[in-house]
Amino acid sequence: MTISDKVENIFPTENDIPAEVRVRALEQKDYLLNGKITIWRGPVQQVFSPVSLKGKKGLTRKYLGSYPLMTEKDALEALESAVKAYDEGKGIWPTSTVEKRIACMEDFVCRMREKRSEVVRLLMWEIGKSLEDSEKEFDRTVEYILDTLNAMKELDRVSSRLSVTQGVIAQIKRAPLGVVLCMGPYNYPLNETFTTLIPAILMGNTVVFKPPKYGVLLHRPLLEAFRDAFPKGVVNTLYGQGRRIIGPIMKTGKINMLAFIGSSKVADILKQQHPAPHRLRCVLGLDAKNAGIILSDADIDLAVKESLAGALSYNGQRCTALKILFVHRSIQNEFLEKLVTRIDRIKAGMPWEPEVKITPLPEDEKISYLADVISDAKKYGAKVINEGGGMTNGNFVHPAVLYPVNNKMRLWREEQFGPVIPVAPFDDIKEPLKYVVDSDFGQQVSIFGSDETKIGPMLDTLVNQVCRVNINSQCQRGPDAFPFTGRKDSAEGTLSVSDALRIFSIRTLVATKDSDANKRLIRNIIRNRTSKFLSTDFIL
Ligand code: G3H
Repeated sequence: MTISDKVENIFPTENDIPAEVRVRALEQKDYLLNGKITIWRGPVQQVFSPVSLKGKKGLTRKYLGSYPLMTEKDALEALESAVKAYDEGKGIWPTSTVEKRIACMEDFVCRMREKRSEVVRLLMWEIGKSLEDSEKEFDRTVEYILDTLNAMKELDRVSSRLSVTQGVIAQIKRAPLGVVLCMGPYNYPLNETFTTLIPAILMGNTVVFKPPKYGVLLHRPLLEAFRDAFPKGVVNTLYGQGRRIIGPIMKTGKINMLAFIGSSKVADILKQQHPAPHRLRCVLGLDAKNAGIILSDADIDLAVKESLAGALSYNGQRCTALKILFVHRSIQNEFLEKLVTRIDRIKAGMPWEPEVKITPLPEDEKISYLADVISDAKKYGAKVINEGGGMTNGNFVHPAVLYPVNNKMRLWREEQFGPVIPVAPFDDIKEPLKYVVDSDFGQQVSIFGSDETKIGPMLDTLVNQVCRVNINSQCQRGPDAFPFTGRKDSAEGTLSVSDALRIFSIRTLVATKDSDANKRLIRNIIRNRTSKFLSTDFIL
């Protein structure tokens, strides 16, 4: 079968869908507000899968259900619920012991695990992520929560002692910041939302949480778990158009922390809406255009394998994806030949098919965007060098390798976030290094080579441009214990299992001058447990 036949026949009929992955429409008519699953009677947003089905009338997007299209008034209510639960830091949750908060989170994760198959199925259908990767996303998230719980215990253990310095006795701990607004991205709607939501809750903050534009329904099976595991008002959910519901709550100035993974353009708008930006703490995961640099002495097979995985996992819709490749001219022919051969072997199809890698894309506008950047690259001299590259059918786009790309093209600087691989030849290492230095982004880079005399100095240049330099490996976020961040337009703040606990809290201490009377007082507070903060309890 030619590529063109494959693309033309990519979508199944309803009957072709295996019984075990079929999905029933989920009409979500409720949301979590102030500890109650509240009925929604207003307008709803219909949800369609990126997967189309073949029928008598041609292709139709699979209908998945609907969710509440909330208004400014509802958003302000969700905010008020979180504000009330925080109660200026006097609420049940911010004043709970760490042990109590850990117990609630352990309860939550048990309840969450019971929902694995429902969440995974919706994740797969809503954003077109392969079943295997959807399962990985769920499991990685559970593992992240468990690791976070361990990190939290360790953090509490090290701060359960008093220090005495220069005649001052103190206990230094971490306290919550207030109300956190959490918004994750559509490409990791569960994992990346939870990597901020979970540590934010655990540190004693209260939360308003809005799922991304795509990947909303998959959160519905978890509403009861949030309601039952945490005190009322700690978690409140919001659904609808960001422009309508997020602006108004930012403008109140009552959001203390913004946790947002998305575009720098939207992050800037949100920050500017806050009336006292200096009060707003932010942790942001933003745009990236990670480059892969393939040196003349690289192991070409390895470089091709990693570059393809880096550029095309989940159709290139990862912030850490390799979004441009620089290949030394002396090896370009062999590299490109192998790249194209391997790309032809990558399995494209429906997300439930075993080993499928390329699947339909959730963003409608992405299809025409990719066609535009491909035609722009062609205008300035690039060619699509793989068979069928860029062919589309519905929301499916066959991966395209564009060569040679240059600085006149949009693909040189724009983050394509899709299955398009721009490749640029270079003669002198200064060329790709200049690209990285001049770029607006500063997340990661990958270098492929074997000569330490070349790679060593490159590392020294690159570590001051990006926040992770990968040697002979694709760019990636994991393991989650490692810091994940970026420079320039790519991030603000650092996330990792332990960093996240720090970022959603602030160091706070109780201190007193070393006198007999003060020592007696401190001893009595601890012995009689009159404070939850000032305590030497040790979590085992
Ligand atoms: O979209 C950005 C994600 O954080 C990337 O994570 O490298 O594990 O796919 P990943």
